[in-house]
Amino acid sequence: MYDAGSGGVPLNEAHTFGLSVRTQALLLPKDESEVPDAASQATYIIGEGSNILPLGDLPPVLSTRYLRGYQVLRADGPEVEVAAGENWDAWVRFCIAQGWHGLENLAAIPGSVGAAAVQNIGAYGVELAPFLLYVYGWNKRIEAWQRIPAEACKLGYRHSVFQAPEWRDQFVITRVAFRLSRRFAPVLSYPDVARRVHPQRQHDPWHLYETVRAIRTEKLPARGSAGSFFKNPVLSASQLEALLQRVPEVPYYPAGEGYFKVPAAWLIDKAGLKGYQIGDAQVHPRQPLVLVNRGAATPEDLWALARYVQETVQERWGIPLEPEVRVLPALSSQASHS
Ligand code: EPU
Repeated sequence: MYDAGSGGVPLNEAHTFGLSVRTQALLLPKDESEVPDAASQATYIIGEGSNILPLGDLPPVLSTRYLRGYQVLRADGPEVEVAAGENWDAWVRFCIAQGWHGLENLAAIPGSVGAAAVQNIGAYGVELAPFLLYVYGWNKRIEAWQRIPAEACKLGYRHSVFQAPEWRDQFVITRVAFRLSRRFAPVLSYPDVARRVHPQRQHDPWHLYETVRAIRTEKLPARGSAGSFFKNPVLSASQLEALLQRVPEVPYYPAGEGYFKVPAAWLIDKAGLKGYQIGDAQVHPRQPLVLVNRGAATPEDLWALARYVQETVQERWGIPLEPEVRVLPALSSQASHS
C-alpha cells in the first residue's frame, strides 16, 4: 500500500485518462487476506482504472489490480476461477491458448477481469454475461465473503447489480468464475468483423482475435481515454417510432424484446461534434463515442466536454446520453455529495 500522507499519491498510472490527479491513499492488496482491511479504508474501488473519470483529487482508492491467479474448477466445461486483478486481454489470450472458447470477440478490451464483470463488457456481438458462473468477493457492509451466482449479478447492457448504491464501493470483487467451451463457434454477426475475417481462416480462433484487435486499434485511441464515454441509448418501440418520424435516416438495431439501440456515435457524429475540443479534451475524430485527453486535459475540460456533448445531443435529437464511464466526484466536492 502507498500512503503519502497529506500530499497524497499520484493517480496518473492508476487510470487511463492520463489526468494529473491524486488520491489520499492508493490501497493495493496483494492477496485476499489484505482485502478486508484495505476495503475498510477505501472510498472508491477500482480495477485498472480504464473506465473511470476522476473529477479531481480523490479520497482513498482501493485497486484490485494485484490480485492474480487462475484456478481450474472443472476441466470439462471448462470452469475456471480468475482473480479480479488479472488483465482482461491476457485472460482472453490464455483461454485461446488452452483451447477454451467464447471470449475471442472480447479481444484487447482494456481493464481487469473484476471490472469486466461489473460492466458486463461487450464488443462485436459478444458480451461477458453468458460465460459468467459467479462472482466472489468481500462485502464491506456485512463484513463477510460472499459468492454471488450469475443470476443474482443481474448482468444487462453495460450493467450489473454491482453498480447499484448498496453494492457500489461496498463489494470488492476478488474472483470471477467463467464457464467456457471446448468448441470454437466464431461469432461473425458484426459486419466489420465478418468483412475482415478471411474465409479460409474462419476456424482459427487466433485469426478472429487478431481481426478484432486490428479493428479496435484502428478506431480507438491508444491512450488518454476510457473507451466509450456514453452508453448507446436504448429506446422503446414507441420512442423509436417518434424519433424515426423526425429523423428517418437514424440507424437502429434490436436490443431485446420491444427495445432498440440507437448508436450514440451516430447521434454525436451527425450533431457535428467529431473532433470538437474543449481545452485539451476532444471528441475522438474516428470514434465520436470516445472522449480523449490529447495530453494536457484537466478533469474540468473532460467534464465540460461530456456535458456539452450531452446537451447538444439532447437539443438536436431529443435523446439523453448516459455516461458509460464511472464519474468519480473529487475530494473538494465530497461534502456536497454526502
Ligand atoms: N458511427 C457513426 N460515426 C462514427 C462511428 C460510428 O455514425 O464515426 C455509427 C455507425 O452507425 C456505426 C455505429 O455508430 O455502425 C456503431 O459504431 P461502432 O461499431 O464503433 O460501435 P459503438 O456502438 O459506437 C460499441 C461499444 C464498444 C464496442 C463496439 C463494438 C458501447 C457503449 N460501446 O460501440 O465498447 O467496442 O460497440 O462492438 O456499447 C466500450 O464500452 O468502452 C467500448 C469501446
